[in-house]
Formats: sequence, structure tokens, C-alpha cells
Amino acid sequence: MTRIDEITDGIYRISASPKPDGAPITFNQFLIDDEMPALIHTGNHGDYDDIRTAIAEVVDPAKLAYVVLLHFEGDECGGMDRFMAEAPRAQLVGSDMSAILNLTQFGVDYVDRVKGVRDGDTIDLGDHTLSFIETPHVHHWDSMMVFEESSKSLFPSDLFIQTGDQPPVVNEDLTQDMCGFYREIGIFAHEEPVRTTIDRLVPRDPQWVHAMHGGTLTGEIFPRYVKALREERFAFQGKSLGRPIAEPAEVPAA
Ligand SMILES: [Fe+2]
Ligand SMILES: [Fe+2]
Repeated sequence: MTRIDEITDGIYRISASPKPDGAPITFNQFLIDDEMPALIHTGNHGDYDDIRTAIAEVVDPAKLAYVVLLHFEGDECGGMDRFMAEAPRAQLVGSDMSAILNLTQFGVDYVDRVKGVRDGDTIDLGDHTLSFIETPHVHHWDSMMVFEESSKSLFPSDLFIQTGDQPPVVNEDLTQDMCGFYREIGIFAHEEPVRTTIDRLVPRDPQWVHAMHGGTLTGEIFPRYVKALREERFAFQGKSLGRPIAEPAEVPAA
């Protein structure tokens, strides 16, 4: 089931529940309804119809001005060709690294509408302003995050994940589950780039943390997640998506 809910002031979460035969997490996209509407994460290529239908409840998908991806992966941008085809004036926004490594190298027919952004760059949507934060090796070399300034909203992609079918807003400490899930699926090579990034995010004092998988965390519960990521082990321990591949390396205590 795909649902759409307004979380705060023109920011909508589009969410599909976990599938019985799939990953035990929701897959979310975020729509910012403004003069220049923006979609953050496209979802997988095959999920386009459901996501498009949800967006159309709020904004005509042909009027999207920006399609933003936070790293190059199916759930982040698998639907980009389809959204870019439908919205002829949209720009596809990724980190400069995503643009250099991937977006300009796959022969897409909208390469002139690919926009690479760097740390500190901003895009004005009207009432909302997107500010970009490059976060290399927080999961991928090309990873970035977005901070929306008017609502103090952070879009952290796969950081702050919560498993299960979470409601639109979460005000609960699910951090033990989060760290255990990260160790099991192995998406972070090391804790260090994440902790360095956390130190850069905290001063922005986010009031909403729009996790790509799970619910949007409130500013009130956010410090608990920060503490867990600073203190617990959550990086790769030899397993990818639960499948043992390599012996875990010797790591010093947290
Ligand atoms: Fe990812
Ligand atoms: Fe993801």
C-alpha cells in the first residue's frame, strides 16, 4: 500500500509498506509542494506508477521542477528516467560526485538537465530552500543529504533507519533495532564518516528528520538517535543483507 501524508508545511511523505517477500522496511519519497515543486528520492523503477499516483494527489507530476537523489541506488533514483520524461522542465539534482560518476555516464537523454551540487549550494523553491550537504562514505562515495531551511527538515537518506511499517511521524527510541539492522545489512563501511557527519548535522538543530526508511523523526527524539550512532557499533561486520561474506575485521571498542 502506498500512502501520502503531509508531515509539515508543504512537505509530504509518500510511503510504501514492507512487502511480505521484501525488505522489512518502508520505502519513502518526499514531495515538497512549492512554486518549484521538488521530489526527493524517486523510488525503484517498478514502483513509479504507485508513487506517481500519490504525487498527483498534490501536484501534477509533469510540473516537478527538481528530482533530487541522495546517492546512486535503485530506491533513490531507479525511477528517474520516468519522472524526467514526464516533467520536461525538471532538473535532476545529485551530488557533484553522483553527476560526475554516474548521472552523466549512463547515456540518459536528459543529460543537459543533470545538475551536480556541492556542499553549501542551495536551491530556492519559493517558500522552501534546499541546502546541500556532501556526506562522502556515509554509505556511498557520492552520498549527500538535504536540509530544508524553513522547516528545519533534514533528508538523511538511509541514516536514522527504522524497520517495520512505521507511521508518518515517529517519536520513539528505536535505536537498538536500528544499529542491529545496520550491522546485519552492512551498509556502512565504518562508523567514522557517519560520526563526522553527525557532528555537522547537530548544529543545524533539525526539527524533522525525514528518514527514507521508517517514519519522520521529531526534533525531540533525534538526540537519542545521535547518541546511539556516536556510541554503538553499527558498521559492516562481514554481512551484506544478512548474508555472511567476510570475517569481520578486528575493530577497537567504540
Ligand atoms: Fe542506499
Ligand atoms: Fe534507501
